[in-house]
Amino acid sequence: MAESGMNYRTHYCIDVADVPLGEELQLAGWVDSWRDHGGVIFIDLRDRTGLLQVVIDRETDQKLHDFAGELRREYVISVTGTVRQRSPETVNQRLETGKVELETTSVELLNKAETPPFPLDDEDKTRDSIRLKYRYIDLRRKKLQENLKLRHEVARAVRNYLSDQGFWEMETPVLTRSTPEGARDYVVPSRVNPGEFFALPQSPQLFKQLLMCGGLDRYFQIVKCFRDEDLRADRQPEFTQIDLEASFVNEPEIYRICEGIIDVAAETAEVEIPTSPFPKIDYEEAVQRFGTDRPDMRFGLELQELTELFAETDLGVFKSVIDSSGIIKALVISGGAQWSRSRLDGYTKLAESLGARGLAWIKYLASEWQSPISKFLSEAEKTGIIEKTGFSEGDCILFMADQPAVVNRVLDGLRRQIARDDQLFEKSHSIIWVKRFPLVAYNEIEGRYEAMHHPFTAAVEGSLENLPEHPEKVYSRAYDLVWNGTEIGGGSIRNHRYDLQKLTFEALGISSEEASRKFGFLLQALQQGAPPHGGFAFGFDRLIMLLAGEDSIRNVIPFPKTQKAYDPLTGAPTVLSDEQLNELYLEVNLPDE
Ligand code: AMO
Ligand code: AMP
Repeated sequence: MAESGMNYRTHYCIDVADVPLGEELQLAGWVDSWRDHGGVIFIDLRDRTGLLQVVIDRETDQKLHDFAGELRREYVISVTGTVRQRSPETVNQRLETGKVELETTSVELLNKAETPPFPLDDEDKTRDSIRLKYRYIDLRRKKLQENLKLRHEVARAVRNYLSDQGFWEMETPVLTRSTPEGARDYVVPSRVNPGEFFALPQSPQLFKQLLMCGGLDRYFQIVKCFRDEDLRADRQPEFTQIDLEASFVNEPEIYRICEGIIDVAAETAEVEIPTSPFPKIDYEEAVQRFGTDRPDMRFGLELQELTELFAETDLGVFKSVIDSSGIIKALVISGGAQWSRSRLDGYTKLAESLGARGLAWIKYLASEWQSPISKFLSEAEKTGIIEKTGFSEGDCILFMADQPAVVNRVLDGLRRQIARDDQLFEKSHSIIWVKRFPLVAYNEIEGRYEAMHHPFTAAVEGSLENLPEHPEKVYSRAYDLVWNGTEIGGGSIRNHRYDLQKLTFEALGISSEEASRKFGFLLQALQQGAPPHGGFAFGFDRLIMLLAGEDSIRNVIPFPKTQKAYDPLTGAPTVLSDEQLNELYLEVNLPDE
C-alpha cells in the first residue's frame, strides 16, 4: 500500500511518448489488460489519457514478477520504471504510446477490483440498463471519456467566446415557478409553505428576459433545464442549454453570435462544417419541401405536391382524401426501381407506424410502370406525374394521401430512412436556420391554439392583423438552428412592449386574468422600461452529440437517465417515507392496477 505522503505519479500515460528514453518515471491507473508470455508479464496501464505497455520480466526481478502475477483487470496500481524503445516488430501502431514501453522496477497495488460486469470495449453490446447501473465503469471507456473531454473543451471555448462578445455568465433560480416551454413541469414541494410547490425551470426564459429588464445587456449560462416529456434518443428529462439573451438586438446580431458559437464548437471538435452565415429557410417552405421544420438538407429527395394533379382522380384512396381536404405528396427516388418487394414492404410498415393508412408506389422498370395503383391512373395523370416530378426510367415514386400533418410526418420519416439506407450523407454536414414560424399552432388534443415557440415571442410586424381570420398566418420572429436534421437550438426576438405582449396572449387565448396570475411579474417588468431584446438556447447535449458523431445524447452525458426517466445507478426516483410525506403534508394516491 502507498504510504501517506508518497507520490502516485510523475506523468500521464500519453506523456511517455515524448519522454527521453531511459528516464525514470511513475504512472498510476488501471490494469486494462494483463498477459503473461513465457515469464514476461505485459500490462496495459490505462489512465484518462490512454494506454501504456508496462513490462515485468521474471529474469530481472522474480519477486516483482510474482507480485504482478496476482494483478487482474481493473486493479488500480502505481508503477515506477524507465522508458525504453520497443523493438520494431513489437511496435503497436494503434497506440499513441505504441513505440515505447515501461521497463518496470516497482509496482504498488492501490486497490483491488471485482471482475467488471461487462468488458470495457467500445463495441461491447451489453444492455444500456446494465451499463447505466455501473456507469462509473462504463465511463472508463475510451469513447465516453473522449466525449466528456470534448464536452468540457467546447464548454470552455463557448464561455470564452461569449465573454469576448460581452456576455456575462449569470445564474438563475432552479427553485422557481412554472416556465412556459410547453412540457410538463417537475415540481418540488415546499416544506415551509405547506401545500405549495416550486417548479424546476424548463428553461431560464423568464429570468433571462428579466435580466435584460435589469439592464444587464448580455447574459449567458450553461444551464440545466428540466422537462417532463416523452423521452427519445435526443431528449432527456434534465438536459443542458447554452442559454443566451441580448438587449438592443435584432435577428442578424443573434444569428451572428450563434454562428460564432457553432464555429468555435466545430473548431474545438475539429469537425469540418460549412462556413457561416448558414442558409435560411422559412418554416412554410421547409414543411412544403421536406415535410418538417427540421429538414436534413445533406441530401435532396424533396417532397413534391400533386394534390392538384389528382383533383379529378378515379383512384379511390386519393379521391376520398382530396374530398376531405387532404393533400397528396410524392417522393421520387432515383434508382428505386431496383428495390425489392420486401424493401418496399418495410417502408410501408414504417409509414404505417407513423400514422399512414397505406403507401402507394410505382416502379419505372424496363419502360413499364409496375404498381398496385397504375391501372387506375388516367393518361393525363401519368403524363402529369412525369412532368411535375421528373419521374423516369429506373426510379421509384412513393405517394402519400392524407391530412397535411400526416403526409408531411410520414414522408419526412421515409425520406430520412431512405437516406440512411442508401447512405446519402456520409461526411458532409448541413446547418441551416429555419425562421418565420407561425406564432401559434393548433393543439388538436386540447382544441385550442398555443404558442409554437413560447408566448413571449414577438410577431412579425403587421402579421398580427391576420389573427382573427387566419391565425396560422401570423408569423413569429422565432428561429431554430437545424444540424443534419436535428434541432440543436431555438430562440426569438421577444415582445418588449406590454401592449404587444398582451395582444400575443390574446392570440393564444390566454385571458388577462390567467396572464397576470402566471406571468404578472414579467408583464409588470415590461411596463417599467424593458429594452428590445432577443435570445437563443442551444441544446448543449445535442450539439456535443453531433460533434462527437454519436446518435444518442446519453453518450455525451455523464449520468443520463433511461427512456423511462429512471436512473439505474442510484435507483432514482424513489418513494418517500411516511415521515417525509407528513412533513410536506403530502399523500400519495396511486391508481388501482
Ligand atoms: P427550446 O424549447 O427550443 O427553447 O429549447 C432549446 C433547445 O434545447 C434542446 N432541448 C432538449 N435537449 C435534450 N433533451 C430535451 N428534453 C430537450 N428539450 C429541448 C433542443 C432545443 O432546440 N427558452 C427557449 C429558448 C429561447 O427562446 O431563447 C427554449 O428553451 O436542442
Ligand atoms: P387499397 O385501395 O386500400 O388497397 O390501396 C391501394 C394502394 O394504395 C395500396 O398500395 C395502399 O398501400 C395505398 N394506399 C392506401 N391508402 C393510402 C394513402 N392514404 N396514401 C397513399 N397510399 C395509400
